[in-house]
Amino acid sequence: MAVVLGIETSCDETAAAVVDDAWRVRSSVVESSIDQHRDFGGVVPELAGRAHVATIGPVVRRALEGAGLEVRRPGVDAVAVTTGPGLIGSLLVGLAAAKAYALAWDVPLVAVNHLEGHLYAPLLERPDLAWPVMTLLVSGGHTMLVYQGAPGEHRVIGETIDDAAGEAYDKVARWLGLGYPGGPPIDRLAGQGDAAALALPVSMTGDDLDFSFSGLKSAVVRAGEKRPDLDRADVAASFQGAAVEQLVRKLRRALERYEVRGVALAGGVAANSALRAATARLAEEFGVEVNLPTLAMCTDNAAMIAAAGLARLARGRTSGLDCSADPNWALSSVT
Ligand code: KG4
Ligand code: ZN
Repeated sequence: MAVVLGIETSCDETAAAVVDDAWRVRSSVVESSIDQHRDFGGVVPELAGRAHVATIGPVVRRALEGAGLEVRRPGVDAVAVTTGPGLIGSLLVGLAAAKAYALAWDVPLVAVNHLEGHLYAPLLERPDLAWPVMTLLVSGGHTMLVYQGAPGEHRVIGETIDDAAGEAYDKVARWLGLGYPGGPPIDRLAGQGDAAALALPVSMTGDDLDFSFSGLKSAVVRAGEKRPDLDRADVAASFQGAAVEQLVRKLRRALERYEVRGVALAGGVAANSALRAATARLAEEFGVEVNLPTLAMCTDNAAMIAAAGLARLARGRTSGLDCSADPNWALSSVT
């Protein structure tokens, strides 16, 4: 049985996990430097990089111990690490650590694309998933529709032409004074507000499968400035209504065009309550299985990186110790 140590440091989470090829997560540790970034309204790359340097060693140790492995000689078959996309200073910390472990333990290094990792997250909780699957991958940096023929085979069929959905949540939250990250507080407030309070345009009503969120954010600010009397909950509910409407509209179109047996959400915005409910309704309407990962599996973690690493390892796709990080690494079609 193959066992892989995964390492993830692409943004503000320092994470390590041990996963085996039965898709069993033997341990998963996530530390975040988010408290250091809140006052700035977003992740400060320099602070994130420094936090990774301080945290990576202890986090890896805890992951190995949590999986019942010996820290000096854990007997893992490979070390998988996120090498992009992400913040270059953060990626390099994880990569340097992964290279050191791979060298010390004399096992292969596997470079993993962060987005590919997100696509494996649902699989770790539902290994019985029926394929093909249509996945809506929505995070702070990305918004895309991905057709997954089988584990490790994926095609991006639509993506945002400007901001990511999570980015729009974060920007609107900052404007409302709700702090960072903006998704959770907007989601909570939206539940108490009236989604019809602000008349917002639904962007991207065309026939394609792409998204756009920058106009929506500006429209919220403009409409909100005209109506300063409005309650923050009403603004949050109106924004969330329009954002989720766009996501679900495109997901529906994708399900109309592609024959699939399941629909999945991935990425941090997959934690959104309205999006989860609407996706579940859509799946029921189309008669396909729905896979909504737990909140811990939606957001950044290393178990998903270890899983993508296992798949790459099985295909012999290991990397040399001279490999580098690529902050703009695009998702390719196969693992
Ligand atoms: O996947 P992730 O942890 O990091 C990236 O790779 O970007 O996603 C973080 C994003 C943030 O923009 C955050 O505001 C958003 O996910 N998010 C949410 C919710 N929880 C987190 N957005 C909407 N509703 C939520 N409940
Ligand atoms: Zn992510």
